[in-house]
Amino acid sequence: MKSFYITTAIDYVNGSPHLGHAYEKVLTDVIARFRRQMGDKVHFLTGVDEHGQKVQASAKKKGIPPQQFCDEVSQEFRALLPKLNITNDDFIRTTEARHKAVVRAVLQQLFDKGEIYKAEYRGFYSTRQEQFLQEKDRLPDGSWPEIFGEVTEIVESNYFFKLKQYQAWLVEFYEKNPDFIFPAFRQKQVVEFLKEPLNDLCISRPRERLEWGIPLPFDEGYVTYVWFDALLNYYSAVADRPEIWREARHVIGKDILVPPHAVYWPIMLHAAGLPLPRGIIAHGWWLQRGAKMSKSTGNALNPLDLVAEFGADAFRYFLIREMNVGQDSDFTREQFLVRYNSELANNLGNLVNRTLNMTTRFAAGTLPAADATVEDDLEKNLRALWAKTRDEIVPLCEGYQFHTALERTMVFLTETNAYIEKRAPWKLGKSAELRDQVLLRTALATMAEALRLAVAALQHVTPAAAEKINAVLGYAPGNDWRGELEWGTRLNGRKVEAALVLFPRPAPPEKAPAPAKS
Ligand code: ME8
Ligand code: MG
Repeated sequence: MKSFYITTAIDYVNGSPHLGHAYEKVLTDVIARFRRQMGDKVHFLTGVDEHGQKVQASAKKKGIPPQQFCDEVSQEFRALLPKLNITNDDFIRTTEARHKAVVRAVLQQLFDKGEIYKAEYRGFYSTRQEQFLQEKDRLPDGSWPEIFGEVTEIVESNYFFKLKQYQAWLVEFYEKNPDFIFPAFRQKQVVEFLKEPLNDLCISRPRERLEWGIPLPFDEGYVTYVWFDALLNYYSAVADRPEIWREARHVIGKDILVPPHAVYWPIMLHAAGLPLPRGIIAHGWWLQRGAKMSKSTGNALNPLDLVAEFGADAFRYFLIREMNVGQDSDFTREQFLVRYNSELANNLGNLVNRTLNMTTRFAAGTLPAADATVEDDLEKNLRALWAKTRDEIVPLCEGYQFHTALERTMVFLTETNAYIEKRAPWKLGKSAELRDQVLLRTALATMAEALRLAVAALQHVTPAAAEKINAVLGYAPGNDWRGELEWGTRLNGRKVEAALVLFPRPAPPEKAPAPAKS
């Protein structure tokens, strides 16, 4: 089995999780589930980033010790995962001993190798982004972009990591690995960024300024810069399992690609003599009326409210269907309702209802076999459409085009419902003619098989619904997912349930459903 290690960013615990954090977990989970279906041995890590100025300030504001504050907020992040049906294998907190030990060991190793030196630091710092800023980060009018929040000037003695000397190596690395970052246009931005000279990286804060961090092993008067600490979580969680580490891929938001993940991280690993990850997937932002949803600006949606109202599957489906990985997307309740009603309740929900209903009415609840001798273009076209859909969705999912794969599956469901309209089993059910009886059985078998296949194509996005639908079809899918995508006779003779309410209809949307977006 091929090993596949996938990670999310680790979230700052300065506030409750919001929709952007939930999206990253869901996207990573969809990738993890998809890779498992493809037969990989997946290791899926997520967790929280607990050190730094921002977390210390939030704890202080609440008037409690930082560790207690982290314990409380981390619990919220951890509790979100089962609510979203996330299949992570591990959850890391940067305050854990296993993580601190690795961070200190790597720092000591780099210090011993002469990769770290002490010097005076003079510059600007954004607590909101936990980032040292440069003059070139300023807007043309001299102010700092809004994303940095409050910016303060720092003049202090600090430790520096020799980043600059690896610039040429990193440029060459990206030349040799043109597909390291997905989407490709992001890698181009990294390459552009690397055309400017790099500065060495300040990796410490004096303890009198910042208490809340991992003390430097070679000078306990300092704590580690939070990004140097946080990035190492991906490695510290599997430090004793090199076969997993070698297959690492990181899912992150575009705001933390350059410089932390695309510049600091590969250089840190290279300097420490460790293998680099296989790649980085940088997704876009969920916006509210054009502005990034964030803890700091207070325009964030609580994912738990949507999950409580519509269920985890509908929430996951919407996020994956709506977002083209790498682009931004505006979240509106109206659009959520449009997709929920037209695609889940109507398209999928109706096919489930019709299949169960008609099998109960016309076949005493047992799925009959199709008879090829009565089939005409109606059945043949639907099968041909499935063959095309199946051939498309696997490569689409391999290339993180999950939104398009879902769109294709929806087209197949729409065509299956159209097939039922045209074949009209309810009319066939009234006819005493032998041929009509055979056609009726064929229609029932065809719609049930189409439903089973669509469910197999959806299962990494809507796992709970997939499980329920398979259960009411009396079906337990096998482990060979690609085999499950073959049109066949697996459902013949299965006893089905009479009904299943999957996506109950909420208040109808205000606007007419928009045409399906691809
Ligand atoms: O950056 N839409 O933590 P964080 C989509 N601790 N994704 C969003 C988002 C939005 N509106 N808002 C945030 C950190 N995210 C660091 C990471 S990794 C070693 C350290 C994403 O809590 C964001 O892009 O600010 C990031 O990938 C993740 O949520 C955590 O953000
Ligand atoms: Mg952030």
